[in-house]
Amino acid sequence: MAISRTRFARGRKRQGGAVESGAKMPAQLMEGIRAEKKHQGGAADQKGMTLFKTNSLANRFQIGKNEKRSARKTTLPAKTKKSPNPFTMSAIQKQDTEIFDYIEREKKRQTEGIELIPSENYTSEAVMEACGSILTNKYSEGYPGKRYYGGQENIDAIENIAIERAKELFGAEHANVQPYSGSPANTAIYFALLEFGDTVMGLKLDHGGHITHGLPIAFSGRAYNFVQYGVNTETGLLEMEEIRKLAHEHKPKMIVAGFTAYPRDIKWKAFKEIANEVGAITMADISHTAGLIAGGELENPTPHFDVIMTTTHKTLRGPRGAMIMCKEKFAKKIDRAVFPGLQGGPHEHAIAGKAVAFKEALQPSFKEYAKQVIKNAKHLAEELKKRGFKLVSDGTDTHLMLVDLSNKDVPGKAAQEALDTVGITLNKNTIPGDTRSPMDPSGIRLGTPAVTTRGMKEAEMDRIADWMDRVISNMEDTALHAKIKEEVKEMCLNFPVPGIK
Ligand SMILES: Cc1ncc(COP(=O)(O)O)c(C=O)c1O
Repeated sequence: MAISRTRFARGRKRQGGAVESGAKMPAQLMEGIRAEKKHQGGAADQKGMTLFKTNSLANRFQIGKNEKRSARKTTLPAKTKKSPNPFTMSAIQKQDTEIFDYIEREKKRQTEGIELIPSENYTSEAVMEACGSILTNKYSEGYPGKRYYGGQENIDAIENIAIERAKELFGAEHANVQPYSGSPANTAIYFALLEFGDTVMGLKLDHGGHITHGLPIAFSGRAYNFVQYGVNTETGLLEMEEIRKLAHEHKPKMIVAGFTAYPRDIKWKAFKEIANEVGAITMADISHTAGLIAGGELENPTPHFDVIMTTTHKTLRGPRGAMIMCKEKFAKKIDRAVFPGLQGGPHEHAIAGKAVAFKEALQPSFKEYAKQVIKNAKHLAEELKKRGFKLVSDGTDTHLMLVDLSNKDVPGKAAQEALDTVGITLNKNTIPGDTRSPMDPSGIRLGTPAVTTRGMKEAEMDRIADWMDRVISNMEDTALHAKIKEEVKEMCLNFPVPGIK
């Protein structure tokens, strides 16, 4: 409900009158409420007064005079909206113009630019609605049916729905939808199934692994004895025989597979065979590819692996968060490690968002989406190769690609920054065997989940490859960059972003 009585309330206060719940509203204000109600297809009249009562409570959340003064002092670049209509202003706009303004700017950035960061996506409006709902108000430590607080009848139902949908989506025996995000979820898995100091195998960060897969300076690398495997630096591919040799040499208690910057499909069964040979627990981190697996485009590790972790906000197109799935025999340990082992109260608004996203991913249209993500990625990879770009592993089976820019004589950081100026967003990335630093590596990483959500197809991938090539081949030509920025914006405005009007 966008109708504000706060101006009326403040006005009356200034005149020295207390604002009472039964106060009569001026005709002009009632007029505005009627117009707004009509616009929303509802009736005002009597209800208008009821709303007025409740809004006196809402007024407590409005900023006070002093805060307002200090907010005015903050220097912000030119405002995105002039003279807002008080009847259509959002709550944030009324209460916190600084944050409102930056959200508006971010909307503009997301609308006018091309998002190629492969770990990003656009959630549906329904997912965002769940995440922005009153569910954020509720504490619900524990699990459905076994909570430490009262008032859980709706929360339990929502969490159970999320769990059942997750299990259906991946064919899992057990699902825990409470992890706040991917990093705590991985930490919970280690905490559940390992002792500190145990040996674990994971892929090196600079070969495509994640920091939670044993980076020496990270918690995982400090708490456990991670033996890090790599890819073949010539081919960019995982070599299962090398991994087998390492496993036999170090006898890990767990083998982690699943990566953050590996463009090829993963041979889950081969990993499982190796783990069986040395008696290791298998853990798959499908954060990047979960949507492609759910959509039936990539092989699902769930039937083979002991534990699966995925973030929910990448190709799966849900809210920021994660979940853990496992075989029934590990269920108790996993649940206990998530709560009370690592986390406190679950974020039920995010869990509702996960449930909504899982329902979306169960629809036939999501299969089409997953298929197109890969088609677009393969097409973009080929178009980049035609323009002389060198791709790690020479292509992709998934949604992402890693480009080695050494033959272009442009480091990854400079490429990322130049592309940023034209509205093409991707990230600098190390390439296997990189001789440069992670903050200024030799490569870039890009992918197609977000652009595919907007409805872009092969024709748009051609244009993206062309713009990338022209920018990276003409790093100093700012006039060209300005022209490309306009072209990028023009194309993007034809492809709406879900939830942005
Ligand atoms: C493979 C993998 N695992 C775990 C994570 C961690 O997820 P989060 O950033 O939600 O903590 C990521 C995030 O990029 C990832 O790519």
